[in-house]
Parts: sequence; structure tokens; C-alpha cells
Amino acid sequence: MKAVHVINGPNLNLLGTREPATYGTLTLAGIEARIAARCAQEGIDLVFRQSNHEGDLVDWIQEAGAAGAGVVLNAGAYTHTSIALHDAIRGSGAQVVEVHLSNVHARESFRHASTLSSVAIGVILGFGALSYDLALEALISLSKSKKS
Ligand code: DQA
Repeated sequence: MKAVHVINGPNLNLLGTREPATYGTLTLAGIEARIAARCAQEGIDLVFRQSNHEGDLVDWIQEAGAAGAGVVLNAGAYTHTSIALHDAIRGSGAQVVEVHLSNVHARESFRHASTLSSVAIGVILGFGALSYDLALEALISLSKSKKS
């Protein structure tokens, strides 16, 4: 795996101040710094992005799929509503690990369904910023096991 694309959806730009009891106090830039350090250790190129707009996320998933990059995707609330993101993953063949900071299953029932899980390699949730680290480790480990 030459590259990892970390794609963040709506309101994740507010991390640090947004509902800290649910999402923690680390900013998105703080998460990016941790992921960047681990990617550098492994010689993996990192593309780390955030948008509040569903179409941007569709474009970026397609881009990652075309590039054969591993994807860590926190689609925020679009996780629970977006058929377009489901289709983007399926149509582009992007290798996606779905992540969430919070344990969505311990929250409101409208957060229990995901349109993405069925087309993701796997799902990691509930570990705060560590969810991103664990998703990256999963992609690294899968990529190494494919090579050997
Ligand atoms: C989230 C969970 C979603 O339900 C919510 O809409 C978010 C963040 C998480 O990381 O826990 O924006 O994806």
C-alpha cells in the first residue's frame, strides 16, 4: 500500500470543541499529526482531508479507489443517510475502513444504521481518536499480509 487517504465528513472540523464528552478534546489536526507520524514510519503517503459536503466525499472516495489507496473513512452523519457514499465505495472498489470516534450503537437509534458498513472492509468505533490509529494499523497489516 503506497498511500492512505483519511477522509473526514461533516462537522469533524469542529473536533476539539464539539461535544468533548462524546468526541474528546483532540482536534482533527491532532489526529492528522498522529496518523502522519505512523505513515512516515511505514513510508506511506498520506492524504488527510475533511469536508462538510457529501459530493466532496464521493469525489475523494472515487479518487482513492482509482489510486488503489487504503481509505480510513469517518463520514460523520452521512454514515447514516448516504447511499451516494455507499455507491462510491462499491463503484470505485476503494478499500475502506469505516471509523467513528464514538460508539454509535450506545447513542441515539438513528445512529445505529450505517449505509457504509456493508461495503467497508471493516468497522472500528468507540475508541475516540484511537479508532483512526487502529484503522490505519488494520490497513497496514492487511497490506503486509497480502504481500507475503
Ligand atoms: C461520528 C458519529 C456520527 O453519528 C456523527 O454524526 C458524527 C461523528 C463519530 O465519529 O463518532 O459526526 O461519525
